[in-house]
Amino acid sequence: MPNYAPWILLHLFLFPFVAAQMPGFISLDCGGVNSYTDDTGLQWSPDDKFLFGQRANISAPASTNRQYATVRYFPADSRKYCYTLNVRTRTRYLVRATFLYGNFDNSNVYPKFDLSLGPTPWSTIVVSDAYTPEIVELVLLASQPTLSVCVSNASTGMPFISTLELRQFNGSVYYTQSETRFLLSLAARINFGAESNDSIRYPDDPFDRIWQSDSIKRANYLVDVAPGTEKISTTSPIYVGFDEMPPQKVMKTAVVGQNGTLTYRLDLEGFPANAWAFSYLAEIEDLPPDETRKFKLFIPGRPEVSKPTIDVQENAGGKNRMYEPGFWNISLPFVFSFGLRRTNDSSRGPILNALEIYKYLEINLGSLDAITMASFASNYPQAVWAQEGGDPCLPASWTWVQCSADPQPRVVSIMLSGKGITGNIPSELTKLPSLVELCQVLLIFYRDVIFITSEETSMDM
Ligand SMILES: *[C@@H]1O[C@H](CO)[C@@H](O)[C@H](O)[C@H]1NC(C)=O
Ligand SMILES: *[C@@H]1O[C@H](CO)[C@@H](O)[C@H](O)[C@H]1NC(C)=O
Ligand SMILES: *[C@@H]1O[C@H](CO)[C@@H](O)[C@H](O)[C@H]1NC(C)=O
Ligand SMILES: *[C@@H]1O[C@H](CO)[C@@H](O)[C@H](O)[C@H]1NC(C)=O
Ligand SMILES: *[C@@H]1O[C@H](CO)[C@@H](O)[C@H](O)[C@H]1NC(C)=O
Ligand SMILES: *[C@@H]1O[C@H](CO)[C@@H](O)[C@H](O)[C@H]1NC(C)=O
Ligand SMILES: *[C@@H]1O[C@H](CO)[C@@H](O)[C@H](O)[C@H]1NC(C)=O
Repeated sequence: MPNYAPWILLHLFLFPFVAAQMPGFISLDCGGVNSYTDDTGLQWSPDDKFLFGQRANISAPASTNRQYATVRYFPADSRKYCYTLNVRTRTRYLVRATFLYGNFDNSNVYPKFDLSLGPTPWSTIVVSDAYTPEIVELVLLASQPTLSVCVSNASTGMPFISTLELRQFNGSVYYTQSETRFLLSLAARINFGAESNDSIRYPDDPFDRIWQSDSIKRANYLVDVAPGTEKISTTSPIYVGFDEMPPQKVMKTAVVGQNGTLTYRLDLEGFPANAWAFSYLAEIEDLPPDETRKFKLFIPGRPEVSKPTIDVQENAGGKNRMYEPGFWNISLPFVFSFGLRRTNDSSRGPILNALEIYKYLEINLGSLDAITMASFASNYPQAVWAQEGGDPCLPASWTWVQCSADPQPRVVSIMLSGKGITGNIPSELTKLPSLVELCQVLLIFYRDVIFITSEETSMDM
């Protein structure tokens, strides 16, 4: 496989990625039937070769986004349903899943279910409005050639999904020292001073991050705004080509605290938690030589964050250049308040162009038998039961497997009755040290001799 070509692996079906877009972009329109290019130039593919679940159309208030017109939904049972995507190892990706309920099942019961990345719990999807999409994003370093996104554990309604999107980063964008142990789960990505309610994304952001406008008013989100907060903008280009490379369009607008302070309060979903939190600043006003803009960050109860004085123009090495101060690892509360305050020797108030906050999610290493089981399943590329994907044990085990309750579970039982397996025992199964039971048409291991039987048996290792 050429290493530049992103491929999507939906079980046994390989879809070549349609040409002429950013490398590493996959945009799946779940429940869709056709491929198309949307207004922004993103190329969407249907998930019509996916083996599980059913398609449904959303009726009523026509969404402007075609990808929200359909969903794929799954039974509310005890198993998991996984999409498996091919990725380049040692490369960072943004994984985005969206969920627009739209009363697809005509029951008006808002679903609630879990989402996981392989064995790692990602999010609990709670639909709170039928026609507002729930959007979740992760930033991660791909350590394996595939990654799986799974839904499971419905507590209300049926699990469903509207889109699954994969965006590849380049260089060291979002590098962290702990990236082999933690995923970054998006909590806030805000474009301050936005000129409209619209989010900024591809093609303004070549990585298709979604930068939310600060004009959108929501309960407990960007409230307690200080008096004297004004929007400013520039038409000059901004130098952004390093660190997280925020889009220029986001950096060309900002808020300034004309009365000396900027303050905000916002709820951070899933917090308190440890966070990766960075601000994106650039001086976009013409300051006369005798004027300065110097300020400090304030977080209630956290005097240590106020130590450094920020002078954007000086820190960035000039006007219209980005400066990205922030915290690699800061513990933040659910109700997060912060302020930027002019220092006493500064003539101008603070400036803020953009902000991103991610929660660190600890990677679950999954079953110790995951590789062995994946290898075993790969012997049966035609069989639906062998295509369940994800980890064999977590967050729910494959339907024909039982696992121990250990933090890194072992496979203890395999039920292959009626799966149509004949002939030799797949060699992988001899590598499962905790396997105590194999219910199958064949298999007794006795010393080196294999007896074929049609009874349920126990395996003595
Ligand atoms: C969804 O709508 C399309 C076109 O209107 C129709 O062809 C298709 O059968 C519908 N699918 C379902 C699952 O209702
Ligand atoms: C399933 O969801 C319920 C309710 O949201 C939660 O309490 C429970 O811990 C979840 N189970 C698993 C295995 O994650
Ligand atoms: C990363 O991607 C950006 C946006 O497409 C591009 O401008 C830049 O040259 C790339 N950098 C590297 C190191 O590939
Ligand atoms: C922007 O969104 C707010 C609510 O968040 C709404 O009150 C306002 O009318 C919207 N403005 C435009 C121009 O759509
Ligand atoms: C800003 O400060 C000035 C002078 O202190 C004051 O007159 C004005 O009312 C303040 N504006 C706001 C919006 O608080
Ligand atoms: C962040 O800091 C806390 C406390 O010092 C530590 O337990 C945690 O592992 C750190 N997280 C990361 C991602 O480095
Ligand atoms: C400005 O000066 C006042 C009193 O002199 C002091 O209390 C305050 O902390 C100073 N503010 C900043 C941001 O340095």
